[in-house]
Amino acid sequence: MVGLNFLATAALLAQGALASPAPVAKRGEGIHLLNCRPFGGAGVSQTWISIVVYCANDSDCSSLGYSPPANNVCVKGTSTSSEHYHTWEGSSQSCTFPTGVTFSWNIPSSAQSQPNYSSVGSGSNGYRSFAGFKDDHVNGLSYNYHSCEKIYYYI
Ligand SMILES: *[C@@H]1O[C@H](CO)[C@@H](O)[C@H](O)[C@H]1NC(C)=O
Ligand SMILES: *[C@@H]1O[C@H](CO)[C@@H](O)[C@H](O)[C@H]1NC(C)=O
Repeated sequence: MVGLNFLATAALLAQGALASPAPVAKRGEGIHLLNCRPFGGAGVSQTWISIVVYCANDSDCSSLGYSPPANNVCVKGTSTSSEHYHTWEGSSQSCTFPTGVTFSWNIPSSAQSQPNYSSVGSGSNGYRSFAGFKDDHVNGLSYNYHSCEKIYYYI
């Protein structure tokens, strides 16, 4: 029993050490959940969109100036009023890309109150499971005359 108690204490200490998570290295393929505001300008539709983006090379998804091809973008929500973005959290959700691939996730309601890069559970594209994290709200890619802020990512 002493041994078990020691292990339980060690596990608690290890969790404490993870209280300030660092960004997890992004390699290989990744999926990003982003909120995007319109650039503005005459003749450009003023819609606020929430999108799911697949990047075969995940670092592309964090590059300002990168614009993903339409087949790698799934539009989850649109709004004509400012800042009424899709609510990503609190239920089992999914989005089907133009390719027919569906990505699904289930983010806890409290996720936005957690530190950057905290775990938010797993996601799946039907082929494999991805580990999900809260992202840092920094601007990432752009899409269709929108500038996109990174909300969550899966690798
Ligand atoms: C992924 O993109 C980064 C940054 O553009 C580049 O340095 C790296 O070589 C790319 N990796 C692959 C496997 O294409
Ligand atoms: C997340 O990172 C961004 C960019 O560095 C920072 O502005 C923000 O305060 C951070 N949020 C939390 C909850 O730590």
